[in-house]
Amino acid sequence: MLDNKIKRIAVNTGGGDAPGLNAVIKAVVMAALNRGWEVLGIRDGYNGIFLPANYPKGDGLINLTYADVKDITSQGGTILGTTNRGNPMKFPMKTASGDVVEVDRSDEIIEGFRRHNIDALIAIGGDGSLTMANSFAKKGLKVIGVPKTIDNDLEKTNITFGFDTAVSFATECIDRLHTTAEAHKRIIVVEVMGRTAGWIALNSGISGSADVILIPEIPYDIQKVADHLHSIFNEDKDYAIVVVAEGAMPVGGSMSVIEHEAGKEKRLGGAGERVAHELQQLTKKEVRTAILGHLLRGGSPTTFDRLLSLRFGAAAIRGLEEGYSGVMVALNPPTVNYVPIDQIANKLKLVNVESDTVKTARDLGICFGD
Ligand code: F6P
Repeated sequence: MLDNKIKRIAVNTGGGDAPGLNAVIKAVVMAALNRGWEVLGIRDGYNGIFLPANYPKGDGLINLTYADVKDITSQGGTILGTTNRGNPMKFPMKTASGDVVEVDRSDEIIEGFRRHNIDALIAIGGDGSLTMANSFAKKGLKVIGVPKTIDNDLEKTNITFGFDTAVSFATECIDRLHTTAEAHKRIIVVEVMGRTAGWIALNSGISGSADVILIPEIPYDIQKVADHLHSIFNEDKDYAIVVVAEGAMPVGGSMSVIEHEAGKEKRLGGAGERVAHELQQLTKKEVRTAILGHLLRGGSPTTFDRLLSLRFGAAAIRGLEEGYSGVMVALNPPTVNYVPIDQIANKLKLVNVESDTVKTARDLGICFGD
């Protein structure tokens, strides 16, 4: 069913940046302009809707043209800016007394879309951003979501863009750390992002020939990790690489958290240091920690991520044209399809501990600390 009413759409990027965001934006803009639609980019998640003109260096809404997007496929980051503290349903506002309270500004956003004659929104983001976008769809706005996260923890899509780039870079870093670990006969603990999912740790750890991989889905016993390291030091080699997902936790313990403000997502950190400290004591070896952190979110997207992002962006526009709303584009190999956002909201895709990838790691002699 063709929807000829669309004349002007908006696009935004929400949550943590991920390689491939700009490629999605490019495909959205090109496919829309080629249909004769106008495209407005909303700056910094939804914040652009609230910003006055020319604040702080340009309007909150940017009219996107071919010139703006022609060279951005290979660029990391997002030309629109983003925020992972920008939930318009829990928008922090200062009261007259100076206290900060959370207010629901979603109706102002819908009103903003009407005021700017925006017929539809392409929302590029992770679970939080897509759930927000879905609530706008329920209030009558046409919305198509595009799933993004380096963590690869979104349901109903085979993969999210950004993940391949993050895993490729993590693998390269692990390769490099082998050199120092071997030269100094050390244990090197490598901490990678991923929140509550172990996808980055698992895939990069296997590909980078780690000796141990600790993921949130398999709580670890540090003594078992140390025993495994002793056995390889006795028989095989005198150094080791231990890959730790930031969400990894000991049996009966919890994730390492740096910061937890009420109403906000926990900031994870410290998992690698915790493991390193305990291994130093249990093995008496020299242990060093490398935290890859935000390095995994930067840089130019891999070919896989570029293509996936371009396919997602173009499919989002075709979906709007076909009359879809309240859905996200998803990779269902070999094709890209449309999945109701309701089916993925507030759910996480975690590593299946019985999967062939986990079994492969075990067959390779990699220890999960269980
Ligand atoms: O969700 C993506 C992610 O990079 C996580 O892997 C990580 O825990 C989090 O974002 C870090 O967010 P921030 O940019 O707020 O430090």
